[in-house]
Order: sequence, then structure tokens, then C-alpha cells
Amino acid sequence: MSDVPVSILIDDIATLVTNDPALGEGRVGAVEDAALVVEGGEVAWAGPRGRAPAADARVDAAGRCVIPGFVDSHSHIVFAGDRSREFAARMSGTPYSAGGIRTTVAATRAASDADLLARARGLAAEARAQGTTTLEVKSGYGLTVADEARSLEVAGRVTDEVTFLGAHVVAPEYADDPQGYVDLVTGPMLDACAPHARWIDVFCERGAFDEQASRRVLEAGVRRGLLPRVHGNQLGEGPGVRLAVEVGAASVDHCTYLSAEDVDALAQAAGRPEPTVATLLPGVDFSTRQSYPDARALIDAGALVALASDCNPGSCFTSSLAFCIAVAVRDMGMTPDEAVWAATAGGALALRRTDVGRLSPGARADLVLLDAPNHLYLAYRPGVPQVAAVWKDGVLAH
Ligand code: NIG
Ligand code: FE
Repeated sequence: MSDVPVSILIDDIATLVTNDPALGEGRVGAVEDAALVVEGGEVAWAGPRGRAPAADARVDAAGRCVIPGFVDSHSHIVFAGDRSREFAARMSGTPYSAGGIRTTVAATRAASDADLLARARGLAAEARAQGTTTLEVKSGYGLTVADEARSLEVAGRVTDEVTFLGAHVVAPEYADDPQGYVDLVTGPMLDACAPHARWIDVFCERGAFDEQASRRVLEAGVRRGLLPRVHGNQLGEGPGVRLAVEVGAASVDHCTYLSAEDVDALAQAAGRPEPTVATLLPGVDFSTRQSYPDARALIDAGALVALASDCNPGSCFTSSLAFCIAVAVRDMGMTPDEAVWAATAGGALALRRTDVGRLSPGARADLVLLDAPNHLYLAYRPGVPQVAAVWKDGVLAH
């Protein structure tokens, strides 16, 4: 007989965010004076403390808040090099451009496998310590067949949510032959990369890939069994949102500049059985000094909104979803409930996952204990570390 407890009662939770409106108040399904039972890596029970079933062991939340682990559906943590000076120059007025990506490409190609893995592991651990229990990770700083494939292998060592982004920018060797680069990405590079990835992504933006090239990339990926997602409308209005909705992408990310038609298209796409989520990346607009996307307009129109970090060395080097929530509430017109939902349940939708982003029975026991009485504190106390503990699959992970 093992003495590892089979079930654990997390007791005396001041506020439990379940994201299940059937269990509690509002869109986040908040239960006050709550308890949660974890068994076999899943949530077995969640509800008012007075009705909690017995369990083999007890953890005392001591009047604090429990939320689902953050689902960060957008990151680029496989890279080498440093672009802090580029950030400093931006803060003095130099505009952000997609061209900076090539700086990281050179450093990433020069790095050893061990170095890339150590950095990615370090950043994934940093994210975990801040409450992220599901993390999507993209390639996109290799841009050769071998460097994209090894980037995806590294990504696969830190997460199951791996995205092939060979179409991040045109590789420097193909500067005069962008069509040739799309041939490479949709041909030999896809052959080498598809087995290592779940998703295909493209940066559909002026300075990266136009609509036609982006469509080619996404369709080629889909033919190889990958699911589409899109970077779009980051630096200006463009075809990204429309294309994402047209191909049935799980998400279109950035959405900083949207036309009224884009907002309508996202609202329509929200009603589909497999919706296209608008994933907003507040850290990017913060770190590139752009205006923020109008989350209020999107939500009021009926679109589904997620928040993600976009952790990367260029446009946004934060891994903190708490920071993203604070900015989204302060500057993007989201309520604290909407922002917390977007960084948990919204991220899960953007990854087409039903097992994470909620704390109702049957969900994975991925949860965060906050040093705070409720989830409003994530936006109320910006910049203050408030993660007391993190459980992943029911096991204490931080
Ligand atoms: O999501 N938009 C494209 N790619 C990244 C930025 C990458 C970089 O600047 O290195 C992003 O913002
Ligand atoms: Fe990105």
C-alpha cells in the first residue's frame, strides 16, 4: 500500500474561480467560502465548503483565492540572443518593425541545442512560477529546415502545445525570393516539422507574409494535419483576421488594429461550433508603445477574447499573465472578471482545449493559489507577485 493520498481536499478557499457559471457567480463562476477536491490529477468536486465530501488529505487555503492555472496560448520561448537595446531604442522613439526578428534568427541559429533547451526550460519554469499551467510554444527563429525542426523538438520538451511558425518572416537567404521561401516552408520544411507540431501559424502582416502567401502556408499545414492559427492585425489593419476566420483558425492573435468588418467577422466566428478566438496580447502593445486593442468593442459585439503573453525577445519579453490582466483591465476596457476568464478559459478556447481553463469536475487539476482573497487582486495589485502555489495535474508544481 502506498501512503500517497488518493484524494486531496483544498479547504477554506475565500474565492474559487471555476469558470463554470453553473457552479458560481458571473462568467467566472466564482464560489465564495469554497472547497475543491482533487483526485487522479483531475477536479473531482468543487463547491461551497459546507458541502465538501471527505478526502484522504487536506490542504488549507487559509482564506485565499484559487483560480484555474493560466492558459498562455501564445509564446515564442525557443530563441537565443538579447534585444534589450532594441527595446530601449523603442522607448526613445524608434518604431517596432518585424525586421528585428532576424536579429534573433542569427543568434538562434548560432546557439547549441543544449543552450536553446536550457533557455526554453528556464522561461517555461518562469511562466509556471507565475501561474501558467498550459503554455503554447512556437518555432520561428530558425527559418531553415534544420533550425525550425530543432526548435520544435525543443518546444516539445517543454509543452504539448507546439506550433510550427516557419512563416514568421522571410528567411534572410530568400530576401530576393519570398515566393521561394514560401515554397520551402510549405514543402521540405513542413515535411520535417509537421511531425513535431500540433499547430501551423503565419505572421500575416506587411513586412512578413501577404494574404496569398499566408493562405498557402495555412492550407499546406492543414493538409498535413496541423490546425491553423494566425498572427494578424498587429502593426496595422490588414487581411489577417478575415483570413483566420475564413480558414477556421482557432485563434487570430494581436488584433490591435481592427476594422468594423473585422469585429463583425470575429463576432460571427464566435458562434461557430469551432470558433475563432481573438487573442489579445497587451504586453506587446505595452512594449512596442502601440495603442491597445479595443477589447470592450470585441466583447460587446459578441467576439470571444483570450489574453496571452506572446513572450518573445523582441516585441514583448514578459511571461506574466497577471501583468497582461492588469493592462487589459486598466487600458483595454475589460472588467477584472473578463480579463481573468480570458487568461484561463479564453486561452483554453484558443487552443481548442476543454480539459483546462476551468475548475469544474472532470477538468485537469491545474490550479493556482493566490496570496489574495479574490481574483480581482490580479488587476488591483499590478506588479506584485501573488502566486502562493501552483498545482499541475494535481501535483504541487511550484
Ligand atoms: O508575436 N509578430 C510577430 N512575431 C512576434 C515578435 C517577434 C519578434 O519581434 O522577435 C510577435 O510579436
Ligand atoms: Fe507572436
